[in-house]
Order: sequence, then structure tokens, then C-alpha cells
Amino acid sequence: MQDQKINILAIESSCDDTAAAVLCNGKILSNIVATQAIHQQYGGVVPELASRAHQQNIVPVIHQALAMANIDKKDVSAIAFTRGPGLMGSLLVGTSFAKSLSMGLNIPLIEVNHMQAHILAHFIEEDDFEKPEFPFLAMTISGGHTQIVKVSDYFAMEVIGETIDDAVGEAFDKSAKILGLPYPGGPLIDKYAQEGDPIAFKFPRPKVDGLNFSFSGFKTSVLYFVQRESKKDPEFVEKNLKDICASIQYSIIGILIDKLKKAVKETGINQVAIAGGVSANSGIRQALKNAEKTWGWKCYVPKFEYTTDNAAMIGIAGYHKYLKKDFADFSVTAQSRYKF
Ligand code: KG4
Ligand code: ZN
Repeated sequence: MQDQKINILAIESSCDDTAAAVLCNGKILSNIVATQAIHQQYGGVVPELASRAHQQNIVPVIHQALAMANIDKKDVSAIAFTRGPGLMGSLLVGTSFAKSLSMGLNIPLIEVNHMQAHILAHFIEEDDFEKPEFPFLAMTISGGHTQIVKVSDYFAMEVIGETIDDAVGEAFDKSAKILGLPYPGGPLIDKYAQEGDPIAFKFPRPKVDGLNFSFSGFKTSVLYFVQRESKKDPEFVEKNLKDICASIQYSIIGILIDKLKKAVKETGINQVAIAGGVSANSGIRQALKNAEKTWGWKCYVPKFEYTTDNAAMIGIAGYHKYLKKDFADFSVTAQSRYKF
């Protein structure tokens, strides 16, 4: 098996990014993402428009991924695709395409859970990158999810805490929308926060039992705060944007770190990885560096290109399933709520 070249063509279409990647023995040969700009004007992802855009993008994106990898279709060993969780209309595009391609090329089909793939992005083969050792804790923080997962092996994962309402990415994006920032606002909050005072304003921390999270009240507290202050001074947001962003970010990171601390204490595992779109945030990255120094944790932060949705992470998950010969049959269907 070792001398054999295993080329995985991976497809990701769970939300608003159409992505394809080719990996050879876990190393990336190409990683293409077509981001759908159309949603910006609506302030959020419009599912119907997302699936239409996936239909338009999927063929050129796959062509580009194969061309950049310099791989011919006949040299692809298996097709990996995102089965879920995600938007049904979006998932159906990738799922149907992957099934047809696998049937047409007569090669194995591999279904991948998007959230597991975010975590497995840490195992992409790269020379300058240290991989976590099992067991470790993974905090998946994205636009659709907020989970703490105990990872005992590639596919032995247990969710030990999760949000009971909004995801942390939504808390960022909805707060940004309240401040009049365009979608997705998370990266912009991060950008302004870097020049602001994190303790200029205080937002309440939600009280949720155990290792679960809640962010819906947080967004409401930002809304009431902005409405109240803007009544006193209509230019309040404009004048204080950097401080507001820094304070929002500081509060959100505080909520995440509190729960991680609790998870480390309860499990006795102090190897911590983050994954998902929000793991690009400079505040959480810094907080983990501090945790290494202060509490002796060993932390793993993904490279920026593997934080937001991409197909390389689907490819690495697919590669490890390929090694186990864990293949799907053609009856496999997309699952918008796909738990593991
Ligand atoms: O993983 P992802 O690309 O898609 C989902 O599966 O949801 O995550 C997207 C989320 C968005 O909410 C976006 O605002 C957030 O990740 N995000 C950030 C940053 N970069 C992306 N949030 C805060 N700071 C960032 N730098
Ligand atoms: Zn994602």
C-alpha cells in the first residue's frame, strides 16, 4: 500500500462555497474554492441561490482542481464528498455529482461528515505542520456549529458539548450586521478588534450548564446595547467601532475559553485543537497561545486556508476512510443534520 499512489478527488458543497481538491497520499496537490459572492447583498446565505451557484460552479471547479493537480480523471483512486451537515439543496449538488462521477469512473465513493472533516484538516500531510496525537479535544467553531469533541481516533469522535441555539460564527456575523458591517462580518470584527480596547464595553456571559454553549442571548445583548447608545448619540457606532468590535470579540473568546477550560478539567485531556471558520480569528489564536503558557496546554491551530470551508479537509477525511476501505454505496443520500 505504501508505494501506491492514492489520489482522492474531494468535493465540498455544504453551504456557500463550491470546492474541490486533489490529495495524493494525504498531501494536497490542488485546493480550489469558489466563494459565492451573491449572498453578500442579502446579508446571509440564501439556500436556493447557493444550490443554483453550486450547479454553475461545480464542473469548472473540479476541472480546475484536476488540472492544477496535473492528474487525469483515470488516475483518481476515489471520490470523497460532503454528505452533511449543511444546506440540503447545496449538499444535493455535491452528492449527486460525486455519485455520478464515481459511477462513471467506476471507482469507490466515500462519504464524509463535514464537521469531522474540519477536525481532520489537522492531519493534512505537510512538512512544516505538527499533527495532534490521540486523544485530543477539538473545538469546532464555524458559521453553523459550535462543538467540543473528544477525538480518540480519526473517526472515533464524541461530541461532549455544543451550542443549544446559535453558532459562534452567527454571533460574530449577526453582531457585525447590527453594526452595519457586510456579510460575513466575522473577519471584519476581527480586523477592527485588533485596534480596539477589548474591555471598553462589557457584554453578559450566558449561563449554560455543562459544556454546552448559547449565543442567541449574546446577539440580543449587542442589539440592545447598540440601540440604547445610538439613541443617546446617533454616531455612537461610527465613533466607537473598533472598541465595540474588540469588546464583542473579547467576550465571545471568553465564553469559548471558559468552556474549553472546563472540558480540559473534566476529561483530563490538555491537547486542544480548534477547527472551522472561526478558528481563523486572531483572538482565539492568541488565547490558545496564552493557554499553552499559562496552563501548559498543547494547542493546535490550523493554517488559515483550512479554517473556512474547503475540499482539502474532505480529501484528508476521504483518504483515511480509503485506507480503511470504508466506502459508500450508491444508495447514500445527503443529510442536512448529519451527526457522528
Ligand atoms: O467553517 P465555515 O467556513 O463555514 C461553516 O461551516 O459555517 O465558517 C464560516 C464562519 C462565518 O461565520 C465567518 O464569519 C466566520 O466563520 N469567520 C470568522 C473569521 N473568519 C471567518 N469569525 C471571526 N473571525 C474571523 N477571522
Ligand atoms: Zn464548515
